[in-house]
Amino acid sequence: MPQDPDPPPAKRFKPGSPFFRLDKKPGMLLPRTGQAPVSVDAQRRQLPIYQAKTQLINQLRQLHNAVIIGETGSGKTTQIPQYLYEAGIGRQGIIAVTQPRRVAAISLSSRVAEEKRVQLGKIVGYTVRFEDVTSSETKLKFMTDGMLLREAIGDPLLLRYTVVILDEAHERTVHTDVLFGVVKSAQRKRAEQNKVPLKVLVMSATMDVDLFSQYFNNSPVLYLEGRQHAIQIYYTKQRQSDYLQAALVSVFQIHQEAPASHDILVFLTGQEEIEALARTCRDIAKHLPDTCGPMTVIPLYASLPQAQQFRVFQPAPKGSRKVILSTNIAETSITISGIKYIIDTGMVKAKRFNPDSGLEVLAVQRVSKAQAWQRAGRAGREDAGSCYRLYTEEEFDNFANMTVPEIQRCNLASVVLQLLALGVSDVLNFDFMSKPSPESMRTAVEQLNILGAVDRKDEKVLLTPLGKKMASFPLEPRFSKTLLISPDFSCTEEILTIISLLSVDSVLYNPPARRDDVLAVRKKFISSEGDHITLLSIYRAFKKVNGNKEWCRENFVNSRNMGLVSEVRGQLRDICIKMNMKLESSQSDIANIRRCLAHGMFMNAAQLQLDGGYVALDTQQAVAIHPSSVLFQAKPAYVVFNELLHTSRCYMRDLCLVDADWLQEAAPEYFRRKLRATKS
Ligand code: CDP
Ligand code: MG
Repeated sequence: MPQDPDPPPAKRFKPGSPFFRLDKKPGMLLPRTGQAPVSVDAQRRQLPIYQAKTQLINQLRQLHNAVIIGETGSGKTTQIPQYLYEAGIGRQGIIAVTQPRRVAAISLSSRVAEEKRVQLGKIVGYTVRFEDVTSSETKLKFMTDGMLLREAIGDPLLLRYTVVILDEAHERTVHTDVLFGVVKSAQRKRAEQNKVPLKVLVMSATMDVDLFSQYFNNSPVLYLEGRQHAIQIYYTKQRQSDYLQAALVSVFQIHQEAPASHDILVFLTGQEEIEALARTCRDIAKHLPDTCGPMTVIPLYASLPQAQQFRVFQPAPKGSRKVILSTNIAETSITISGIKYIIDTGMVKAKRFNPDSGLEVLAVQRVSKAQAWQRAGRAGREDAGSCYRLYTEEEFDNFANMTVPEIQRCNLASVVLQLLALGVSDVLNFDFMSKPSPESMRTAVEQLNILGAVDRKDEKVLLTPLGKKMASFPLEPRFSKTLLISPDFSCTEEILTIISLLSVDSVLYNPPARRDDVLAVRKKFISSEGDHITLLSIYRAFKKVNGNKEWCRENFVNSRNMGLVSEVRGQLRDICIKMNMKLESSQSDIANIRRCLAHGMFMNAAQLQLDGGYVALDTQQAVAIHPSSVLFQAKPAYVVFNELLHTSRCYMRDLCLVDADWLQEAAPEYFRRKLRATKS
């Protein structure tokens, strides 16, 4: 930050050009209507998309493929499925609307059910991983893209569906990208076999849609006019070395100068920094002179319990300014009214992958230009707004134009396994919209081969019986493998629990303000054998008190997420039973559980070095134990870890203590090769 303690924004920031979006297209702009209307019906009629309804229905009736663009909040997701349904389009089957995010699928289906005045789960329903709120009556089905992919394994032509709407396509998640290929092939095959045609609509909040259009048979692009007002963009005059400090100063600068009704949305990268900044903001706000007015600080990130996520939509108490600190979840997935100021740190936490090493890490990195524009756009929904970019204009010029699709920067083992399970014969040449590099495809095949999930014959990749079983679980390959070998260690019940705990958002609640209390109550659960075992004891204690809410509160356990763990566990257990797996409990024998984890997760092993640091054995990368781990103060010789997080260093999260012998016996050939690599 500048040394000058509190220069006014005008001095610290340099104005860029004002920014208008979607203002060049003709016609569908609605006059502004002032206050929010009362009834849901009136709200529907005031959405920008309503003006285009008839035209839209007429066009969509004719087309097999279309790409639809419109600003976030214009009504694409909630209205188009209803328009189709009401116009009788696709009535013979189900209209599917896919979402990259679970939160979005759930909240959107609830909203549409409310608009249609029907009970959720009847005509309108949703399916997300481990949760299915649909019935035989369901015609409008909101689902995560991952769920539609799973359904395609049993029904590659997607015959239950007449329309598939691939929503939030600009997010380009791995699942969406794989789904593009699956849906395209289903559409073609259905046409060839004279089956009921499949209509495929791609919806995006960004303008760069040529790729979508080309990929889907040069489909027409339909533009929806948004209600976008002018946004003044400001850049910092100098580079900022500390974006958190810069964000903090900017929030209070605006807070001291702008009317209280002008809300602020700050884009940050993750839970920890959001919670820390929220605390600092609240502290400072308390000590400001009365002339400043109160501030309501609201965090928003994916792992926050749902009820708390919904707080962002509620207005702040009268006279108080709402300051939302959010991850990129607020970029397009969610519309929040009242936002007048955006503070864009220009940073995002995203996956990064090195195909040579096969290592996937979560890392804090620069956003793309497209993302920066999307963020700025959040300020102009209801009136003119401002966006403060905490970077210089020169820095912005060097941002990448587009975000690289996830499929080109993540580990593809799951994808390859899924494609093989879908019956795709030539996985290495699958028709991806954006092809991943051949190296990362090869790395994925090799990893699956080491796990015993695939065999290679000549140039062909074939699923093994184990691989086939692995694909039956909605889990990452290493987790399904761990589960499938758990009967050998007589600990399937415990592994089910551990994997379920790792599959939902955090079950532990760590309010920074009560750090000492948290530490005090956690003590009794902490295991020197690592985070998996610690989580397991918390789950066992939770079960012992039958999920008592009071117990959860006292122990800083998120009871909703814990409830979800039980559900997930039940569903995974059902799959195990269907496969005739032996369900045994290791009771108090913890070593067996750790041995099983070592056998399933050996590719995520790390070894202590003489200098006290760790090295990931698979990649030889230097790694460290994350401060949140119960092993943070310990120095075990060998661990397996759940994931890597790259911030100032590369951190391992969720660790389990293991023996070197176990790793050796799990994959002797693999470790012999690794060892050779270390020595050379
Ligand atoms: O998909 P798109 O971003 O174009 O808009 P949408 O999700 O269909 O939302 C249209 C409008 O519906 C929003 O601007 C909100 O006013 C309202 N909405 C809501 O009130 N609650 C929801 N859960 C979803 C939408
Ligand atoms: Mg939408």
